Amino acid sequence: MTKFFISCALPYANGPCHLGHLRSTYIPADIFARFNRMNGNDVLLVCATDEHGTPIAVKADNEGKKPIEIATRYHRRIIKDLEMCDISIDNFSRTTSKTHYKIAQNFFLDLYSKNLIYEKKIKQLYCDYCSKFLPDRYVEGICRFCNSPGARGDQCEVCGRHLDVEDLLEPKCLACGKTPVIKESKHYFFRLSKFQGKVENYVYGNPNLGDNVRNYLKNWLKDGLKDWILSRDMDWGIPIPLKGSQGKIIYVWVEALIGYISSATEWSKKTGISWREYWDDTVLHFIGKDIIYHHGIFWPAMLEGYGCKNPDNIIAGEYLSLEGRKMSTSQGWVIWVKDFVENFDSDLLRYYLTVTAPLNKDMDFSWDDFKRRVNDELADVLGNFLHRTFTFTNKFFDGKVPKLFNLTEEDKKFKSLIENLPYEVADSISNFKFRDGLVNILKIAKEGNKYFDHQKPWKSVKDDYEKASNCLYLSNQLSKVLAINLKPYLPNKSIKILDILNLEDTNDWNNSKIFLEVGHDIKEAKPLFRKIEDEKINKEKEKLYNFEKKSQNNEKLKENNIMDIISIDDFVKLDLRIGKVLEAGKIKGSEKLLKLKIDIKEKEMQVVAGLGLKYSPEQLINRKVTVLVNLKPANLFGVKSEGMVLATADSTEIIKPDGSKIGEKVM
Ligand code: 2FM
Ligand code: ZN
Repeated sequence: MTKFFISCALPYANGPCHLGHLRSTYIPADIFARFNRMNGNDVLLVCATDEHGTPIAVKADNEGKKPIEIATRYHRRIIKDLEMCDISIDNFSRTTSKTHYKIAQNFFLDLYSKNLIYEKKIKQLYCDYCSKFLPDRYVEGICRFCNSPGARGDQCEVCGRHLDVEDLLEPKCLACGKTPVIKESKHYFFRLSKFQGKVENYVYGNPNLGDNVRNYLKNWLKDGLKDWILSRDMDWGIPIPLKGSQGKIIYVWVEALIGYISSATEWSKKTGISWREYWDDTVLHFIGKDIIYHHGIFWPAMLEGYGCKNPDNIIAGEYLSLEGRKMSTSQGWVIWVKDFVENFDSDLLRYYLTVTAPLNKDMDFSWDDFKRRVNDELADVLGNFLHRTFTFTNKFFDGKVPKLFNLTEEDKKFKSLIENLPYEVADSISNFKFRDGLVNILKIAKEGNKYFDHQKPWKSVKDDYEKASNCLYLSNQLSKVLAINLKPYLPNKSIKILDILNLEDTNDWNNSKIFLEVGHDIKEAKPLFRKIEDEKINKEKEKLYNFEKKSQNNEKLKENNIMDIISIDDFVKLDLRIGKVLEAGKIKGSEKLLKLKIDIKEKEMQVVAGLGLKYSPEQLINRKVTVLVNLKPANLFGVKSEGMVLATADSTEIIKPDGSKIGEKVM
């Protein structure tokens, strides 16, 4: 028996959960935890909300609230989000708990007493106008490494680098917009550079780490580790527990990682069971790929220093995009978990987010593809197989598992597929290949349908009873295996299938290796997977596209107060041309979007434009329009769009360039 200490990355308590969180971290961790509990392993799955840090403090400032009020609001929301998706966390804590303050401060003191933390005066950005230092997200500028604007004080989201004061060019205070000055302040540093060798051993010497994790970490190690600043000048956070450090707190990332231990400690207090036994056996961290650095470098070094075993594995889920575009909560390009599961069964979401791509590859969520997979795979393959098995058993065999007679070659082949499935799925899940396990389950259900079609029990029951009996005997066996092996993936559907099979909900994987007895009574068939109607999906799509537009308008309104000044260099990047609409047509599923073919002289291009509520396709043909022609192509409703037609924001009135020539450049 293995004791697993499993953690899910702590979500920031500054917003609800979205599908990206579920896909990268919570669903995979839950599948693994459930599977291992079913296999007699002892699992402790912990998580908490990450409640300090500047994003929450900034949000609180903006809303005129206290940070703890924001954190509490989202702590509650996130618990509900995770519950709605049946994420089976054993202890869900918060980093504002007393236990966590104590543990984080003691951890800090431990490293300090070992001379692994030292003090140093450094230059910091200080806003004279707001009279405060500007840590992390209180300041924005241009990243020195990749030149991207919008980089924060601690990190550039574009290149992922950790940024120091000098690495942020043209900094601006986010509260007042003024340029901060550089001032000295005393800070605490962790001797990370001392751990270069140890971390290298960890990264190179741990065969468990996935390639995506190791390759990413190798790049960082190459540059050599630098000492790491552990403190911030701000009030929202855990105070540094040393004299003369008033107004300084422990950097949120340091204490968030310690949050895993705090949540486990809280669990130990409740249950009387020591979490150390789990940690000393096997530790697994499930995270998103954006935080590999923190878990693969900072954390192992901190743990080494503290004298605690390193994580056995870090499982990093890659990014989820939405309808072909990067998710963005600020632009409303996001699907919140709550909105989703209010309209669709959470098991469908668990299915889709697992089956669409392996965890170590990026994945795109598309409403059309979601519908297709639910209808073609869950309803037509899995649901159909189960339904026909249960219906026929009731109709022809009095609702009892029929007898098994001499097996034909085909029966034998099918039987061995059924017998192998629990071993194969177990192998996939144990190796974090969650998608493979699920794909295999679906593949065998498909084989089940083929076998059923071939045996034709509706016919053979009349002229070859043994054939029909064998078919339904084996189909019921497969139904049982499917029900149990689906449990880590689709816990609710699993219970429903077991119920029709007249079996109690089971938490024993090995039970899927035991065949139902001949004569076992099953219940009436009930529909398990209903197809999703086009209309329902179209509504969701409209909601997403409309919401995004609205929130963009809101952003624009906000910007009107503080107009963003751009340079002429920015302006000339826009390649605007006069074009003529050659073809125009509707896009299935959207009232608003039209597909246009536009002649810009140099070439013809395809543009998806949101003009459908104002203009009919016919009204647009032969019309001159102004087009942004060097926009990065995107997919809208599955249709490629290579540019943008200029129109007013609210009334979608086309900007008319009537007197100009096709292909002419707009300046
Ligand atoms: O990136 C994030 O969302 C962080 N809140 C994750 C923290 S994980 C760990 F350190 F606790
Ligand atoms: Zn300021």
